[in-house]
Amino acid sequence: MTKITELIKKMTLEEKAALCTGAGPWTTTPIEHLGVPEMTVTDGPHGVRRSEDVTAFVTKSVPATCFPTAACMASTWDVDLIHKLGEALAEECIALKVDVILGPGANMKRTPLCGRNFEYYSEDPYLAGQMAVSFINGVQSKGVGTSLKHFAANNQEYQRSTISSEMDERTLREIYLPAFETAVKQAKPWTVMCSYNKINGTYSAENHKLLTEILKEEWGFEGLVVSDWGAVHDRVEALKAGLDLEMPGPRERRVKAVIEAVRSGELSESTLDESVRRVLEIVFKASETKKGGSFDIAGNHALARKVAAEGMVLLKNNGILPLKGQQSIAVIGRAAKEAYYQGGGSSHINPTRVDDPFEELQKLAGNARLTYAEGYLKDEGNDQTLIDEAVKNARSANVALLYISLPASKESEGYDRPDLDLTRQQIMLIKAVTAIQPNTVVILNNGAPVVMSEWISGTAAVLEAWMMGQAGGGAIADILFGKVNPSGRLAESFVSKLVDSSAYINYPGENGQVRYGEGVFMGYRYYDAKQIPVLFPFGFGLSYTNFVYTNPKASAETFKDVDGVRVSVDVTNTGKVAGKEVVQVYVHDNKSKLARPPKELKGFAKVELQPGETKTVILKLNFRAFAYYHPAYKQWITEDGEFDILIGASSADIRCTLPVTLQSTLELPSILNRDSTMREWVEDPRGMSVLAPLYQLLNAQMSANFGSNEIGMDPIGFLMDSPVMSLLYFMGDAMTTSPEELVDEWLAKVHATD
Ligand code: GLC
Repeated sequence: MTKITELIKKMTLEEKAALCTGAGPWTTTPIEHLGVPEMTVTDGPHGVRRSEDVTAFVTKSVPATCFPTAACMASTWDVDLIHKLGEALAEECIALKVDVILGPGANMKRTPLCGRNFEYYSEDPYLAGQMAVSFINGVQSKGVGTSLKHFAANNQEYQRSTISSEMDERTLREIYLPAFETAVKQAKPWTVMCSYNKINGTYSAENHKLLTEILKEEWGFEGLVVSDWGAVHDRVEALKAGLDLEMPGPRERRVKAVIEAVRSGELSESTLDESVRRVLEIVFKASETKKGGSFDIAGNHALARKVAAEGMVLLKNNGILPLKGQQSIAVIGRAAKEAYYQGGGSSHINPTRVDDPFEELQKLAGNARLTYAEGYLKDEGNDQTLIDEAVKNARSANVALLYISLPASKESEGYDRPDLDLTRQQIMLIKAVTAIQPNTVVILNNGAPVVMSEWISGTAAVLEAWMMGQAGGGAIADILFGKVNPSGRLAESFVSKLVDSSAYINYPGENGQVRYGEGVFMGYRYYDAKQIPVLFPFGFGLSYTNFVYTNPKASAETFKDVDGVRVSVDVTNTGKVAGKEVVQVYVHDNKSKLARPPKELKGFAKVELQPGETKTVILKLNFRAFAYYHPAYKQWITEDGEFDILIGASSADIRCTLPVTLQSTLELPSILNRDSTMREWVEDPRGMSVLAPLYQLLNAQMSANFGSNEIGMDPIGFLMDSPVMSLLYFMGDAMTTSPEELVDEWLAKVHATD
């Protein structure tokens, strides 16, 4: 019998119930006489927000490194770098005596309006999953736990605690779960945090299908499920669903309710024991890592600078960048003096230090004369004098650098953005400056896409710097002066206008529901399918050098789904400076029973190349790279047929196409039933073998009676989408056997070979 099992036997019902609820805002309940220690958890995905007093909900947190937020991390497309960031976070958790850090956030970026998108990775489940895996593995490699959040379908802040995310099973499985599934299976997070919202009418915290059937039984999750803070409505129902730990605590009434439920038989003690077991496993695992000491402040600041520079995305450049030789530089915008480096809400960090972007520019600008103008106010107010001052400076300079940050009033945890716009003042400022200074570079600090159509045409360059963390000021300077060659790639599409966005027509929902009406066609999947031009596509980013792709190969032209296929391509740096390229591999299914997006990301690799250097990038595509989730079979399926493997520098810049043929090894049961149409019978080989005589008879009769109709109608086409059962009824009493009996007889033959 294990130590844990022994322990549970010694625990009273009261102790068990108490253990499954926090003792305070950030700690679990210790049981001293049994040697069960307290465990401390705290936010947040890009830095340790440890309150000086863990018994207080929100007080000033102790200084810790504020790394770039998830949107920037994902734009690095560099899994090794994010693993290193995770290791550094763990080092700081250990020093600050934190056992579990409440991150990563792996929710899909369904709408660019979501106020919390800065804390999430991508609109693509594959990229988001790979980022989450790297983060979790990095942190946990040091014996510190993580909390994969917010499970699941928490894709907006609007009514986040009550709204129901309404979607079909396939959309849930193919878009909103895979990042969590990949992270659970490949990185085994110690904890998973359930989301506030409902999914198809049931709170995540009380969703047995989500927390037990899918997460624990299907995916094999062995850690504990913790609630988002305040996400539990009915503690007994939540325990039944598989929610192991309610946070925050204490919740005397809830503990009492659990005790009463066990005593009344409403809740089986074995169900409670399972949660107790999971909590004890993690609490003891956490206690194995000795806490205390210090962390490398300077080293982690330098790492934050490297991640920020790797995640920044150069969106436009007419050659003005990298800066060189300019004698006078007009620096404009409050964000040049007050770095806008993180977002509002639970992830907000007290940084160890913050780079001053202006000073960092000064360090690299040599003898250039820098001027400063505020440009815009901290809030959304207008002030023409600030614009006039900026224009004056810009006019007399060789180049103007506009540091533009969205005001915190626009985006944060807790609320969504009303639009994708910069503030009016900022738009007027950019237009006024670019009107007189063609060498204008706009540097954006924002957590999620903004629209640019009113002002981008007048700019010489645009750098997306995101919420870049405390060292972002230095990272911007590194890129502007070419110390770092930008290699970030967009992990989300930048639409030209809000109404184009894939969630637009269904966001934010109404009457307590938000319908995911776009289904699997979310983000670039939607823009590709609808052929909607975007401002900057998923996967896009410029470099100071160029890359050429040659010699694309697939390890086999025809292969079995279980064997997968290896794809290789040579990438050459044809420019004069070293740089990093992100080779992206998408898969296109030429024909499928269910509608599929035109292409889906299924592999990527970031590669560093010296000028003139060539490297061969090799990626393996497995079963899931070609599969899709079929709700009728309740599983991921592959179908025989032709696929195109698309190798590109972005989702819209495909450099090579490899046609391949997949052989499915699945033995799928027939899904024919009493309501199946003629078409479904004909397209199912087993169905057609049984139905052939009737099909020929109907074909002959319809052709004889209607074949030469004056309107040229297709007689058999007329029948194909009618249920066979209905057609048999049309044949009236001519039949001795009832349509039900006949169809059941045929179905028995079809399913005999399932
Ligand atoms: C919040 C957030 C969650 C955070 C938790 C603790 O409301 O949704 O991400 O970890 O509370 O602060």
